[in-house]
Amino acid sequence: MNILVIGGGGREHTLVWKLHQSPKAGQIYAIPGNPGMAGAAVCVADISIEDNEAMVRFAREKQVGLVVVGPEVPLTHGVVDAMNAAGIKAFGPTKLAAEIEGSKAFCKNLMKKYGIPTAKYEIFTEAEAAKRYIRQEGAPIVIKADGLAAGKGVIVAATEAEALAAIDEIMCDKAFGSAGSRVVIEECLVGEEASLLTFTDGQTIVPMISSQDHKRAYDGDQGPNTGGMGTYAPAPVATPEIVARAQREILDPVIAAMRAEGRTYKGCLYAGLMITKDGPKVIEFNARFGDPETQVVLPLLESDLVDIMLACADGTLQDLDIRWSSGAAVCVVMAAGGYPKSYHKGDAITGLEAAAQAGTVVFHAGTSQKDGQIVTNGGRVLGVTAKAGSIREAVELAYQGVEKIHFAGAEYRKDIAHRALERLNK
Ligand code: AMP
Ligand code: GLY
Repeated sequence: MNILVIGGGGREHTLVWKLHQSPKAGQIYAIPGNPGMAGAAVCVADISIEDNEAMVRFAREKQVGLVVVGPEVPLTHGVVDAMNAAGIKAFGPTKLAAEIEGSKAFCKNLMKKYGIPTAKYEIFTEAEAAKRYIRQEGAPIVIKADGLAAGKGVIVAATEAEALAAIDEIMCDKAFGSAGSRVVIEECLVGEEASLLTFTDGQTIVPMISSQDHKRAYDGDQGPNTGGMGTYAPAPVATPEIVARAQREILDPVIAAMRAEGRTYKGCLYAGLMITKDGPKVIEFNARFGDPETQVVLPLLESDLVDIMLACADGTLQDLDIRWSSGAAVCVVMAAGGYPKSYHKGDAITGLEAAAQAGTVVFHAGTSQKDGQIVTNGGRVLGVTAKAGSIREAVELAYQGVEKIHFAGAEYRKDIAHRALERLNK
């Protein structure tokens, strides 16, 4: 079966890498893809991931039997609806269902209506009213732009002044454009975070192995929020009891809620959880695989990903037995100097072969090819990933890979998986 993967980052490289291992996979195409996929997928750079018609035409022409959508933007633009209307199976939620990520206000209201545990909140469209609420509630407090802001529209304010400044930035200066015309202001949850990605066909929802992302740019969880600087799986904080509780109190109810709202959700639903002293609470839902969570979750999947994705599209997930490796995986993101603010592009990358020989898998996130050389082409450039018997071994191996790779201004966190190691040391 021919497969089309939409997207061109580290998550999509990982999806291609895993799909390519399936005996059921025929030719794999990627729009736009990236140079890391060479050998596993044909990359098609001249079609926009925002052009549904062109993507449907391409899928028809290449007799694609399964479309896999990576990023949130094409999902919120209804690419799955467009493929389905053309009779092509697609893995991912429809436009209506993807709103669970596309609008934080929708998501929060859904959770309130169906009693799904999350932080207490209010929604504002007026800066003055938002500021009054902040003064009333005090700090710490969390400010979120309503719409999509590439993972950067959230400010966890430690002081009232910081919170008020965030309102000016989001609502008055429009730092995130129209995504900030509405803001959600919510209670600051205390605990440790875990990501629970799931497979769902709209009825059955099956959690993948848990993982943890490192959203801050610098060691010790300092600095600005980023798309994610590294991940590990499984996350020891997500014990079997916590996962069972999340299934009962969060996952099963949200899938039922989406059905009841006429927005049946299929694909990967990503639950960003805070494990509080009162149990798991939802920080956010994403309508897609996490990036870079995918880079550590899929290497631990032993079952065939094509089978699972088709079952999600067909509504037969209940019949599948999904198996996971008992090991662990770690991904260290190598970013361009300056990320998440402005950064340089076009710097030559060396040592990719050596990192592979050292036993790591290097997923490309922001690279391109120039005169036969792989060069940097994004903020997050590479995800150096290692799988091993334990988190500790996987951390060691991943950093051995990182040390082999060089490009001008490369930055990476040196403490990926520190929380897991602390917990395991106890
Ligand atoms: P989000 O984009 O919603 O995942 O938010 C980005 C990050 O901000 C999360 O991963 C958390 O670290 C933090 N965050 C978001 N909401 C809250 C909250 N209510 N309480 C504490 N931290 C939060
Ligand atoms: N790694 C966070 C996300 O994918 O949203």
